[in-house]
Amino acid sequence: MVPSTVDDNIAAVFVKPASADDMNAAHAVDDRLGERNQNPVGMSLWQLWKEDLATHENDLFMQGFWALAVHRLGNWRMGIRSRVLRAPFSILYKILYKFVEWTCGISLNYPVKVGRRVRIWHHGGMILGARSIGDDVHIRQNTTFGVARRGDHRSLKPVIEDRVDIGCGAVIVGAITIGHDSQIGANAVVLKDVPPWSVCVGVPAKVIKTLQPPVAATLVSPSAGELKVTTGETSLAPTAGGGQ
Ligand SMILES: CC(C)(COP(=O)(O)OP(=O)(O)OC[C@H]1O[C@@H](n2cnc3c(N)ncnc32)[C@H](O)[C@@H]1OP(=O)(O)O)[C@@H](O)C(=O)NCCC(=O)NCCS
Repeated sequence: MVPSTVDDNIAAVFVKPASADDMNAAHAVDDRLGERNQNPVGMSLWQLWKEDLATHENDLFMQGFWALAVHRLGNWRMGIRSRVLRAPFSILYKILYKFVEWTCGISLNYPVKVGRRVRIWHHGGMILGARSIGDDVHIRQNTTFGVARRGDHRSLKPVIEDRVDIGCGAVIVGAITIGHDSQIGANAVVLKDVPPWSVCVGVPAKVIKTLQPPVAATLVSPSAGELKVTTGETSLAPTAGGGQ
C-alpha cells in the first residue's frame, strides 16, 4: 500500500476508493461490463495514479502511464452513482481516451479490469481488449488482445493472470487464460490456455518450457521444532500434524 501523504488527504476529499461492492460482481456478467468501477479495491484514484507513475519510473511522459491513468479515471467515474454528476467526468474520460489512442497508439478501454503495477513498455499498435489483466503484468508494443473471430461476443476475450510478461507483437485472442508467471514470446499468436509458469512462443503458440517457481526454503525452528515453508513473498505455517 502506498503510504498516506498530505496530497492523499487533499485528494481524498474528491476521490473515494473503489468499494468491495463495486468489485465483487463477476466480471463475466457481460451485460454489466463497464457499469462499475473495476479499479483495484481499497485504493483511491490518486493512490493508483501515484503507483502507476512509480511503475513507469516516475516519468510523466511515458505513454504507458498516460494510458493507465486515463483507464483508472474511466473506472473511477463509474463509482459516481448519479449520471448527472458523472457526465462531466465521462466527457473528460472520452476525450482523454481518444487523445491517448491517437497520440500513443494504445487502446485500453475502461471495461478491461486492470490490476496494480501493470507496466506498458513503449507504445504503438496496442489493442488491449482483454477481460482482465492481472497485477505486475508487463506488456510491450504492438500487442493485441481480443476476440478470436469477427462477430464473437465481446466477453470472449483473454484473461491475463498476474506477473505475465508479454513480448512485443504478441497476439492473444479468444476466451483463454494466460496462467500467472508465464512469458509470451515476441510475435506469438496465442489461441489456447497457457498453464502458469510457461514460456510460450510461435504461431500458433506452443509451450516450449515450464519455468521453475522460486525455490521453497524449508526451515526448522530449533525452539519449537516447528516447520515453516517460505515461498517467495508468502510464508506458510502448517497446522498441527500438517506439513509439506
Ligand atoms: C519467449 C522468450 C522470453 C524466451 O526466452 P528464453 O526462455 O531465453 O528462450 P530461448 O532463447 O532459450 O529460446 C528457446 C527456443 O525458443 C525459440 N524462441 C525464443 N523466442 C522465440 C520467439 N519469440 N518466437 C519463436 N521462437 C522463439 C528459440 O529460438 C529457441 O529455439 P531452439 O531451442 O530451437 O533453439 C524470448 O525469446 C522473447 O521472445 N522475449 C520477448 C522480448 C521482447 O519482446 N523484447 C522487446 C523489447 S522492446
